[in-house]
Amino acid sequence: MHHFDYQNGSLYAEGVDLATIAQEVGTPVYVYSSATLERHYRVFKEAVGEKSHVFYAVKANGNLGVLMTLAKLGAGADTVSEGEIRKALAAGIPPGRIVFSGVGKSAQELAFAVEAGIYQINVESESELEALSGIAAARGKRQAIVLRVNPEIGAGGHAKITTGGAANKFGVSWSEAERLYVRAANMAGVSIKGLAVHIGSQIFDFAALEAAFIRMRGLIENLKAQGLPATRLDLGGGVGVPYEIGYPFEYGTDSLQTYGQMVRNVTKGLDVELGFEPGRVIAGNAGLLLTKVLYLNERADRSFLVVDAAMNDLVRPAMYEAHHEIWPVRKSESGTTRTYDVVGPICESSDTFATERILPELKAGDLIAIMTAGAYGASMSSTYNQRLLVPEVLVKEREFAVTRPRQTFEELLGLDRTPDWLA
Ligand SMILES: Cc1ncc(COP(=O)(O)O)c(C=O)c1O
Repeated sequence: MHHFDYQNGSLYAEGVDLATIAQEVGTPVYVYSSATLERHYRVFKEAVGEKSHVFYAVKANGNLGVLMTLAKLGAGADTVSEGEIRKALAAGIPPGRIVFSGVGKSAQELAFAVEAGIYQINVESESELEALSGIAAARGKRQAIVLRVNPEIGAGGHAKITTGGAANKFGVSWSEAERLYVRAANMAGVSIKGLAVHIGSQIFDFAALEAAFIRMRGLIENLKAQGLPATRLDLGGGVGVPYEIGYPFEYGTDSLQTYGQMVRNVTKGLDVELGFEPGRVIAGNAGLLLTKVLYLNERADRSFLVVDAAMNDLVRPAMYEAHHEIWPVRKSESGTTRTYDVVGPICESSDTFATERILPELKAGDLIAIMTAGAYGASMSSTYNQRLLVPEVLVKEREFAVTRPRQTFEELLGLDRTPDWLA
């Protein structure tokens, strides 16, 4: 469930008319709902147990307003770069609630994380373990770590977001996990606390998650039996959201309760602190991309609705063939529908938000909302085609604030430098 709905025929974000935002901020623009973010965080936390650590995956949506909204509820942050750690800290998330994941953390990033005193680094390879050990020991520190293990069980809404398979680059191999754990337990500069796993994103196949978690449980028990310290189990993120009507679960409550129950069953009596890294399920349908119809390109056999948002603003359809529902901002009074291809202005055929989609009849100047764009939307955007990064707006009841203004052409041009020989 979310807080975008029609009031007197106009689409609202909580108590704010989207047409007002379009008028004041322009289009395209991302619009986020505080109430939806807050609800999803609370439902997730309740589902996995109040004692669990919930580290929101910043990569899904790193907007400062979004992070601050979650920080106020006590959320931690799962980060994958120095930039994300800095963003989380700037949002008021204390270092003691930040974890750092990723297969390619640079020496500088590791040093930054150690200096910042973050809660945990999820180590993904033996060479990273060696590098981190050296970096922390040189600073006289002992960094808390967990070992991310590849469980050889992948799942996800698309091959490109499946991470737990044996062929995927993530984590140490299953067969090496025990040896590396023992090695880490005897190394300077690190304090090994447990294991981490993350098998993919946009997952509805909870049986795959369960199978991976059962493997992790077995490994924790094995490590404990050897007298090794194993007090933390980070179960990653990955819970899917319904982008399309007819998904197996109603958004939020049902799927998360099923997920929480499964986790409880698998981890019963294990005596570890559980950690989670949800991204999409928190932010996914807490945001939409508001865009304006520029032109209608009518062909004999096809109608293209050309909008002012493009694949650089929301890359999911182009990159993952992802489906997003499209809602008109003003409900049609006539009830007439048409079949459209909804496309952006970029010179790539993949710059298409929807193909052969039945929508109310629309014309140039009309506003539409590309729904469920709160996760992996703005955070994956670029300036491709020298287009300006779009603004982001956070709504709270009847108020809204621009939490990221539209980039300016001066800022865009200011990114480049002229080589001496061309000056
Ligand atoms: C290590 C890790 N944790 C958490 C996440 C968040 O996943 P999701 O947004 O599907 O919950 C990701 C996403 O790719 C990830 O790589």
